[in-house]
Amino acid sequence: MRRNIQEIQQSKRLKQRIPMITAYDAMSAIIAEEAGAEIILVGDSLGMVFQGHDHTIPVTIDQIIYHAEIVVRMTQRPLIVGDMPFMSYAISPEKARENAARLMQESGVGAVKLEGGRYMAPTVRSIVKSGIPVMGHLGLTPQSIHQHGGFRVQGKRHSDARALIQAADALQIAGAFAIVLELVPAEVAALISQKLDIPIIGIGAGPQCDGEVQVFHDLLTLLPGKAHRHTQRFAELHPIMTQAIKEYVVAVRDGVFPTEQQSARLPAEIYDALLEEFAASAE
Ligand code: KIV
Repeated sequence: MRRNIQEIQQSKRLKQRIPMITAYDAMSAIIAEEAGAEIILVGDSLGMVFQGHDHTIPVTIDQIIYHAEIVVRMTQRPLIVGDMPFMSYAISPEKARENAARLMQESGVGAVKLEGGRYMAPTVRSIVKSGIPVMGHLGLTPQSIHQHGGFRVQGKRHSDARALIQAADALQIAGAFAIVLELVPAEVAALISQKLDIPIIGIGAGPQCDGEVQVFHDLLTLLPGKAHRHTQRFAELHPIMTQAIKEYVVAVRDGVFPTEQQSARLPAEIYDALLEEFAASAE
């Protein structure tokens, strides 16, 4: 049975921490489920780790639907959350509802996620009222990267920390079933997690949230480059995978792969007949 939002919320009441991870394709979805993730996020981070952009802004609703449908199809148990990409919900609550409905109907996700604070509360309420569970996203909201001026910790000043707490409250009142808190001081995240009834899922928000979300590619080091401070490399697969493919390239160049073992064979009589035809046509 697939996880639902009531079970996710129950986890908070039972003080069971909630592991969440991104997935975008069949391989990452299968691994995330087999590893026991409670929630899989088809995040717009795919714009960076899958499409190779510097930020998430180019990602479209059609692309999220495409990836989310794969992740839903390849999994049975985790709750699948589809990310609402840039400008798919900010124009108006009506447009947001329309896109959230498309995402749910065309991919089969059990909930959607959107970024933004108090000003997004009416939009969250409108989507929730049409029967679509919404996860909020506060702190560093990557779709506003040009406003934030970079991937920086948010809520360090007293007034900003207070505004974050108020925004989380407003999203809960609007009906969000959970909130992602990205890159905020651990103390602020702990206060919000204590204050709110709904689960707070951190990323770069310290150890006292109700759960944690991380990007699949970061945990496994699938891409080269510096690690983010907020992540941990649970495996370093990029060099291992590159080495394996290097060995393949050399084997092809040296003529030692493929061999008889990887080949299919014709029955001898068909081969002989072909050889005869071949010889005749060459005369
Ligand atoms: O798109 C994403 O992967 C996210 C997580 C980083 C929370 O929004």
